[in-house]
Amino acid sequence: MTSVADRDDPTTAPLFTSTTPTICDLLDHGKVYRPQHDSDLLIEAVQNSNHAVGAVAADLCTGSGVIARAIAHLGARSVVAVDASDDAVRVARALCTDSSDRVAVRHGDVATFRGRFDLVTCNPPYVPSPPDGRIREPGLPRAAWEAGVDGRAVLDVVCSTAADLLNPGGHMYVVQSEFAGIDESVAALRTAGLAADVVMERHIPFGPVLSAHAAWLESGGRLDKGRRIELLAVIRADKKPMPGGSSR
Ligand SMILES: C[S@@+](CC[C@H](N)C(=O)[O-])C[C@H]1O[C@@H](n2cnc3c(N)ncnc32)[C@H](O)[C@@H]1O
Repeated sequence: MTSVADRDDPTTAPLFTSTTPTICDLLDHGKVYRPQHDSDLLIEAVQNSNHAVGAVAADLCTGSGVIARAIAHLGARSVVAVDASDDAVRVARALCTDSSDRVAVRHGDVATFRGRFDLVTCNPPYVPSPPDGRIREPGLPRAAWEAGVDGRAVLDVVCSTAADLLNPGGHMYVVQSEFAGIDESVAALRTAGLAADVVMERHIPFGPVLSAHAAWLESGGRLDKGRRIELLAVIRADKKPMPGGSSR
């Protein structure tokens, strides 16, 4: 079993976080999102670039802080980690203790978060959910995954504020499911003036949350009957460097 501490060397750092004992120990079960395939995929995408090295970074919707911590360990100069949940802030601060000189964890909402960064990461809530809250997942924090009927409640905010959060030459990485409209995010980021594309994709089996939503998604024609595989994508959005400026 790997430890988050093993991430210190970006060349050998393990990519998978889901079974990291340090995080499991810290997570207040049922209150803070346990890092999953989406967290891993986002870290992997940043790790495949050199965009963390020396970056002034922000991790939106930080949850346990696993992505913020990974970015710090990949060489970021500083990371602001933001989450709207008090429980997440508490856990993220504890997880990032060893990187506290570079990671500052703040309570906040992506809708009001401001600043300028070289690198922004985000694993937002993106699971489409019926408006009446009829699907319940005891043991999982609803605010960590529930994102309105189209799954875009937080994604739309993130896409529309992305350009303002990036320094010229800066990069944003967002992970999401096919069920929340990958093309819509790419289009929204392009409309905001950024060069955006999918840089990583992975098919994963449904977890407990999507399994609980399967019948509802099927009834709305958004999921083929019986399919229980989901496509996750990491979208990268780049802001143009200043003319004559360096591109990271
Ligand atoms: C899918 S979890 C991701 C957690 C972590 N980044 C990871 O990959 O393990 C989404 C997180 O977004 C937070 N969140 C939801 N809505 C938010 C908002 N409007 N502003 C900031 N954080 C939000 C939730 O509290 C939750 O911790």
